[in-house]
Amino acid sequence: MQQRISVLRQRRTRAFQSFLLLLTSFFALALPLTSVFAENFPKVKFKSGDNAVKELSVDELRRLAPEVSLKVFEVHERQNGGYRVLPARTVFDKVFGKNWEQAQEVVFTSIDGYQPSVPVKKFLAHHAYFAFANADATPFTLTNRLQNNEVVTLGPLYLVWDNIGSQALLEAGASDMPYQIRAVELQFKAPFPNMIPPPRAEPEVQRGFSHFRQHCAACHTINGDGGGKAPELNYPASVVEYIEPEYLKRWIMAPQSIRYNTTMPGLGNEISRREKVTEEIIAYLKAMSTIKRAPESVKPVERQ
Ligand code: HEC
Repeated sequence: MQQRISVLRQRRTRAFQSFLLLLTSFFALALPLTSVFAENFPKVKFKSGDNAVKELSVDELRRLAPEVSLKVFEVHERQNGGYRVLPARTVFDKVFGKNWEQAQEVVFTSIDGYQPSVPVKKFLAHHAYFAFANADATPFTLTNRLQNNEVVTLGPLYLVWDNIGSQALLEAGASDMPYQIRAVELQFKAPFPNMIPPPRAEPEVQRGFSHFRQHCAACHTINGDGGGKAPELNYPASVVEYIEPEYLKRWIMAPQSIRYNTTMPGLGNEISRREKVTEEIIAYLKAMSTIKRAPESVKPVERQ
């Protein structure tokens, strides 16, 4: 009995070994033939207003625009990095037609819920690129020093800017650099109606709104408008109502000094007048606490 079992085991082991051999040779043969960029990413959706325009894989996009190699200051890692990229304007021309230049904003949606809305003007004034691989063939990931050193996958697409030597782009920080892009949508109307401060708000509040859009809105919502990566800040209770003013300011500038392991990045060190910017953001949040709207009454963030 004992012997029979061990013979059976041997047979099974042999069968398993040949199965492994088959498997490895299959992968050795098949891998070089399949694309390195396809991985398991879904196709990227392109929308114009409410209309779906196209769904394209990285390989399909690479056939539309010429590939170049770009060196950028990698804001998430605080050092230079090199990527294989496609020029964003050429991609937009090919996918949407020249009409994209008439839109107001380009809204990007990432797999993790990050959702920045970038003014079309910024794409016309600066050079943006879709990165799809590292220039040196290392894995297409980065260590996000702004988010507790999380190692994040960048594919299918990562939006980068030719920022070396541009003070304006360096000051903008990481907010307009979404990775894991799964949707690109043109907006012809002013975005985020529920995030706009009350009419006749103080200039300080207006400035705070513009800082909030630049540095916070890609992750957070106000009255349901904005990105879906982090908590709503205004409805039903505003953060200015339940967080002590002193702590709110400290939280925005250095969240790690309050909560160990938080993944919220502090307001970028590269921003000049950080303290003033923080105060203006708080003035905006206070103004918004007087106009609360239930997020259900607005269009929810599209999820897959
Ligand atoms: C990259 C995404 C990201 C950005 C950008 C970001 N946050 Fe956050 N924020 C988070 C996450 C995630 C949390 C939850 C953190 C936690 O619980 O540790 C959070 C929490 C908060 C909280 C605490 C809410 C609560 O009830 O606990 C406040 C207030 C806040 N953020 C304000 C801001 C402001 C103001 C900005 C812009 C200056 C900003 N955040 C930018 C991701 C972000």
